[in-house]
Amino acid sequence: MEELHHDKKDHTEVTLRPHGPLVIKGDFEVIDEDGKVIERKHQQMSFCRCRMSQKWPFCDGSHKAAH
Ligand code: FES
Repeated sequence: MEELHHDKKDHTEVTLRPHGPLVIKGDFEVIDEDGKVIERKHQQMSFCRCRMSQKWPFCDGSHKAAH
């Protein structure tokens, strides 16, 4: 596995959590289907992959009930 580079200022990290969300850490924008920016983040955000979230497309922890 390649070494992670947490100390870079412009580094953005995407992690697929086992049986959980896709987590993005860093500077990024979330753009919807129409091309509109719905979030600007400079820290961390979790996106649902299980389709159980009531806050789609964001993870609300509902995936924990399935495991
Ligand atoms: S991954 Fe967390 S609610 Fe779907």
